[in-house]
Amino acid sequence: MKTTRNTVLPTGGTPATDNRTLRSGFFILSRRSAMEGAAAIAAAAIFADASSHAKTAAAAQSAPLPVAPDQALTISATINGQPVAAEIDARTSLLDLLRERLALTGAKKGCDHGQCGACTVHVDGRRVASCLTLAAKIEGREVLTIEGLSDGAALHPMQQAFIDHDALQCGYCTPGQIMAAVACVAEGNATSKERIREYMSGNICRCGAYVGIVAAIEDAASKMERG
Ligand code: FES
Ligand code: FES
Repeated sequence: MKTTRNTVLPTGGTPATDNRTLRSGFFILSRRSAMEGAAAIAAAAIFADASSHAKTAAAAQSAPLPVAPDQALTISATINGQPVAAEIDARTSLLDLLRERLALTGAKKGCDHGQCGACTVHVDGRRVASCLTLAAKIEGREVLTIEGLSDGAALHPMQQAFIDHDALQCGYCTPGQIMAAVACVAEGNATSKERIREYMSGNICRCGAYVGIVAAIEDAASKMERG
């Protein structure tokens, strides 16, 4: 399915920066190597603050979209708990809508072909590859991205577990890994290391942080099940 990767969409604002990660001091640059410093920068995007992104998204709604007249489509959906309405080009992918229009850049564009999982988000509670999902398909539905995963100031148990188990290096795959991992637990597929590996096999980590990722999911699963 061809998406409108080259469609120029107004961003409507500057992507928000993360304050929580820096405040909480999970990554202290002075004590870490240059490699870990890169991870800290990545984590600033991974654990992005939802409310600031929601404001950016709301601001972006009012920006006009340069869409082809014969492809114009208005959609309404709930994204990270916020109502969003936007006129889009009907060929726009959900990933491009999130990143290019709503400045929700947590979901990453890795392959843009449904093969890496970096773009994973939830639609009505189910994980999807947003690069392969038409934005038009979210009409009337609920979308959850990494920016909306945490509950206020507290990180989601899966986000915390990824930190605790050093389940990332460059961090590029991590938002997709975390969203897929949350779904993996909710689906009841985090019952063993083998099963986790199988049901997370659609999420590729080029840094090879798989041992930490599996450990993080096992850890978070026990906490999520305790509620
Ligand atoms: S960017 Fe969507 S699966 Fe790779
Ligand atoms: S942490 Fe670098 S690709 Fe996964």
